[in-house]
Amino acid sequence: PGKYKVVMIRHGESEWNQKNLFCGWFDADLSDKGRDEASAAGKALKAEGYQFDVAHTSMLKRAQITLNSILQEIGQTDIPIEKTWRLNERHYGGLTGLNKAETAAKYGEAQVQIWRRSFDVPPPPMEKDHPYYDTIVNDPRYAEEPKKDEFPSHESLKLTIERALPYWNNVIVPQMKEGKRIIIAAHGNSLRGIVKHLDGLSDQAIMELNLPTGIPFVYELDEDMKPVDSMVFLGDEETVRKAMESVANQGKAK
Ligand code: 3PG
Repeated sequence: PGKYKVVMIRHGESEWNQKNLFCGWFDADLSDKGRDEASAAGKALKAEGYQFDVAHTSMLKRAQITLNSILQEIGQTDIPIEKTWRLNERHYGGLTGLNKAETAAKYGEAQVQIWRRSFDVPPPPMEKDHPYYDTIVNDPRYAEEPKKDEFPSHESLKLTIERALPYWNNVIVPQMKEGKRIIIAAHGNSLRGIVKHLDGLSDQAIMELNLPTGIPFVYELDEDMKPVDSMVFLGDEETVRKAMESVANQGKAK
């Protein structure tokens, strides 16, 4: 066993996951299935006796609702919850709101795979006339942060990592070193960024990783924060494999 243990979870299925739309910073709600996934995740954590001292999540409700549901199930609604834009989903730029399969039919599956999974090719930027530009840029929850000059208009995984990792290193790691037991409820791509960092995955290797919705996974880390146990899912292998595959397939033209 490692010296430190941290639990991470991608939010349950959102209404936009269900409709297969690029979501990014759009604040989609959970679908009914997503709510079920979130409470099942809480039950799984409860069955293993997990308790936490601090929870971290994004500014987006799909992650927050997932976290609340877990805390409800494990009887810990009273612990501190720290919310940050740094754990938000990767900003999908101009693709936000488009259907992934239709986009693949229009631009080709290879292009959609580049937009979804390449390490450093960002999607096209979200321009001022984009239907969700105002909703996102002028959302009062971002009044303080991110600052105007760091407010993304699109993000590659690389850019997502550049804003998520400082939070991991400067906020989460110090808390772990104080002995705090941590849970992080976030998003497919912000968590892929943390996983890439922890496991030292290459830019190529991380392209293959698709995180399923609503299934908690655990890292055990040594005193240098190097993994002793990586990405151990609280779910049976077949279910996890299928869920990962279905995320990968969202970019197929059908
Ligand atoms: C989104 O923002 O659309 C999803 O939550 C993550 O999308 P991806 O799996 O297509 O990167």
